[in-house]
Amino acid sequence: MVTKRSWAEPFKIKMVEPLRMTTREEREKALVEAGFNTFLLRSDDVYIDLLTDSGTSAMSDSQWAGMMLGDEAYAGSRNFFNLEAAVQKHYGYKHLVPTHQGRGAEHLLSSILIKPGDVVPGNMYFTTTRAHQERAGGAFVDIIIDQAHDPSALLPFKGNVDLAKLEAVITRVGAKKIPYVSIAATVNMAGGQPISMANLKAVRELTQRHGIRVFLDATRAMENAWFIQQREASHANKSMAEILLEMCSYSDGCTMSGKKDLLVNIGGFLALNDWDVFEEARNLVVLFEGLHTYGGLAGRDLEAMARGISEAIREDHMRARIGQVEYVGDRLIELGIPVVRPIGGHAVFLDARAFYPQLEQLQFPAQTLAAELYLDSGLRTMERGVVSAGRDKDGHNHLPKLELVRLTFPRRVYTQAHCDVTVESVQAVWENRASVRGLEMIYEPKHLRFFQARFKRL
Ligand code: F0G
Repeated sequence: MVTKRSWAEPFKIKMVEPLRMTTREEREKALVEAGFNTFLLRSDDVYIDLLTDSGTSAMSDSQWAGMMLGDEAYAGSRNFFNLEAAVQKHYGYKHLVPTHQGRGAEHLLSSILIKPGDVVPGNMYFTTTRAHQERAGGAFVDIIIDQAHDPSALLPFKGNVDLAKLEAVITRVGAKKIPYVSIAATVNMAGGQPISMANLKAVRELTQRHGIRVFLDATRAMENAWFIQQREASHANKSMAEILLEMCSYSDGCTMSGKKDLLVNIGGFLALNDWDVFEEARNLVVLFEGLHTYGGLAGRDLEAMARGISEAIREDHMRARIGQVEYVGDRLIELGIPVVRPIGGHAVFLDARAFYPQLEQLQFPAQTLAAELYLDSGLRTMERGVVSAGRDKDGHNHLPKLELVRLTFPRRVYTQAHCDVTVESVQAVWENRASVRGLEMIYEPKHLRFFQARFKRL
């Protein structure tokens, strides 16, 4: 009797890219050359690359075919109109400004709406988002629920806003100093954790009473829509497409990195309803990205993103995408390895503090763990802890509660066998955890230091 029916990927593979395996000696050398920073490794020295799900997904035959239909006119490319129609249909916003990627949209939005001295509340920070808010003169304030900072708190919607925290910020600084509330769906730095529809709606109601805008970081909003369908009883019978539209309806617009949900290697956009903000964004995009109908992208890139929207909103796609991440997460949990729970949408996050209780936070436990994983198997991951958090404007290190290493899954790229190899490597590093010593930072760049910082072994 068959008792269990598995899901499988809703695609087959038509083109392959060879992987290179390295020896431990080669990896030791590469790691030292990279200053123990996985961002500084050459990808040729990497075996399984779980650094990020950003721009690393596999495009479909339809997307590649769309690339050949790129209309590379400087102005008014037909691919822009295809993208505009897809954004209006699936996200529901009226106006579209394409940008080269998500941070291009964050730059436009922050420059237009934030004045020096303003405060931008958000459900946990994201590195580039906060950097642009601060660059425009704003201060980010975290209003996520406390449990989001606890790797083991088992909640279905750990990305939720704590409404009391939001209300307290509004009372403290006044609505006039809050240009908008910045809501991420799902919350990357919390472990890919979703926000519930009920919470989004409540944030909208609260901010509307004070005349404050809400902007969504919709980078992984489709993944969030999947979690709402799976976990929020009121929406169990709604399609992902309906859920996404409803989510967006509780905001005034979104910034988007198409490099995640939308299955492209490059691209993003700002989409919004307010004509005045749109007009300003259309003026500014010309300065920083390109004309308002291409925003730093080729026509073919716009077409690939337009097609990516209709592929990514499919539920069979999302089941396999999130199912793969859960597969790895569940295996690690079975092995007793400490991970952020519940397993998030785009990644499994290892709890580096629990791996290395012998290390102080400024001996960089997560940076150390990412280095050890690379040494073990050529697996590339990313630090999401004190290095990523950076310093405040007075030069003090932000000391986040979460000290994590992210195993981030590109979409439609790796097989279940790659997942098994990954799990085995994490297990090997877990078993050798006691003898590990930390790192010392020997070079620290001024902006977004995690990308280029260098370390040496203590
Ligand atoms: N917002 C979120 C939630 C993100 O995860 C990212 C990028 C951005 C905005 C910026 O978009 O890279 O297109 O400029 N995250 C990548 C990551 C880099 O690895 O998580 P971008």
